[in-house]
Amino acid sequence: MKNVAIFASGSGTNAENITRYFSQSESIKVAVVLSNNKNVGVHDRVNKLGVPSFVFSREEFVEGTVVLAKLAEYRTDLIVLAGFMNKISDALLKAYPGKIINIHPALLPKHGGKGMYGMHVHEAVVAAGEKESGITIHYVNENYDEGTTIFQAKCPVLPTDTPEEVAAKVHALEYAHYPHVIEELLK
Ligand code: GAR
Repeated sequence: MKNVAIFASGSGTNAENITRYFSQSESIKVAVVLSNNKNVGVHDRVNKLGVPSFVFSREEFVEGTVVLAKLAEYRTDLIVLAGFMNKISDALLKAYPGKIINIHPALLPKHGGKGMYGMHVHEAVVAAGEKESGITIHYVNENYDEGTTIFQAKCPVLPTDTPEEVAAKVHALEYAHYPHVIEELLK
């Protein structure tokens, strides 16, 4: 059995979708969810599916010991960021080289970098008059949104689209593709 650890900071709809996708799998499971926030939706979403979740402080995250111990306890093979809003620490990058992936809700290298997360990204896409947006799944390195791209998928952006409408299209792409990319990487 290959074990996935998900890092999420917010609502956790991707974390739930990935957990559901692998719930019947005999080779891959979401073993644990880690978050920097206590009062966010991701905990309920995964706990009700039988997956434990834990919260760590900013200091614990930067220092690394507590988080690394949890990842080891759950025999983590792959770390999946799903709406995780902290920069990944050096300790984690060192311990899991090539084993941390992220999903970004736009077509990188456009509309990425510090401060570009969630609705901010879709607002920037609409403000820039983009004709398309989409998702980028990439390896994580020491810079925000700069690791090697693994997969991209696109959706059209209409001149009349609001940021919320773009977000809905992008979320649909995330739900359709992220679990498959994880599955491929763990084959
Ligand atoms: C997702 O759209 C994800 O791509 C984005 O946050 C959202 C989280 O939604 N991530 C980033 O913006 C990272 N820069 P969710 O909590 O419902 O899965």
